[in-house]
Amino acid sequence: MAFVVVEREHPIAIARINRPEVRNALNVQVMDELVAALEELDAEEMVRAIVLTGDEKAFSAGADITGFVEATPITMLHQDLTARWERIRRVQTPLIAAVSGYAHGGGCELAMVCDIVVASESAQFGQPEVNLGIIPGAGGTQRLTRVAGKYRAMDLILTGRRFSAQEAKEIGLVARVFPKDSWLDDAKTLAREIAAKPPLAIRLAIEAIDLVANSTLDAGLEFERKAFYLLFASEDKNEGTRAFVEKRKADFKGR
Ligand code: COA
Repeated sequence: MAFVVVEREHPIAIARINRPEVRNALNVQVMDELVAALEELDAEEMVRAIVLTGDEKAFSAGADITGFVEATPITMLHQDLTARWERIRRVQTPLIAAVSGYAHGGGCELAMVCDIVVASESAQFGQPEVNLGIIPGAGGTQRLTRVAGKYRAMDLILTGRRFSAQEAKEIGLVARVFPKDSWLDDAKTLAREIAAKPPLAIRLAIEAIDLVANSTLDAGLEFERKAFYLLFASEDKNEGTRAFVEKRKADFKGR
C-alpha cells in the first residue's frame, strides 16, 4: 500500500493515512487502500480495536480537490466513493479516530464515521465545502447535525469555519482531548482499554448506540433488549461474571 500504513500492536492495530505532501487528502486510491486495510484488520480475531489516524499535521484535509476541478455528476457517480464510506461504516471492530492537525471536509467526515473521536489539543476541524461551491458529501450534513444539533451544524457548515478540538468536544464530536505531546499514545491507551473488553459485548453495544441515529426509540429499545439477552449465551458473559465473583481479572475470548 502506498498511502496507508498498518501497524499491529496486538490486541490493537493502527491504520495511518500517509500522504503528507497534500495533508492526507483523500483520493480514490487512498480510500481504496483504507477500506482494504480496515476490512483486513476487521477480519483478524487478534485485533480488537483499531486506531485510525494521520500524522501530527493532518488527520486529513478532506477530499482531493484537484480531482473535483473537472469532475461532473456522472464521473462522481461512476467513482462511487459513497460505497467505500459504507464499507468503512460496516467495520465491526471498534474504530477510534485519533485526530491531530487538520480534519477538514472529508477528514472530519472520516472521523465521524468512526465509533469514537479523540483529538490532540492542536486538532482543527471544519466542513469548508461551501467555500468550494459544494456541500459535505460523505455524511457531514447528517452526522454533524445529529451530533451538534441543527443550529450549531448550520453555523459550522454554512460558514465553513474551522473549529478547535475544544469546540469539537463541547459539541460532542470529540470524546477526549489529549495533550499534543502524547495524543497518539493516549489514543492507543484508550484502544487497549476497549480491546481488553469482551468483543461480543462491545460489538453489540456499538450497534445499539448507532441505532439511536438511525431509528426510533422503540426500535432501538427492542434491539437493545434482544442484544442484551443474546449476550447471556456467550462464554464471555460466564467468564466476566465469574471473574467478578471470584475477584480475579477476566480473560475474554470473543465467544
Ligand atoms: N486536496 C488536494 N490538495 C490539498 C488538499 C486537498 N483537500 N489540502 C491540501 N492540499 C495540498 C495543497 O494544495 C498543497 O499543495 P502544494 O504543496 O502542491 O501547494 C499541500 O497540500 C499543502 O497544503 P497547504 O495549503 O500549503 O498547507 P497548510 O498547512 O497551509 O493548510 C489546509 C492546510 C488543510 C488548511 C489547507 O490546505 C486547506 O484549506 N485545504 C483544503 C481543505 C478543504 O477544503 N477540504 C474540503 C475538501 S471537499
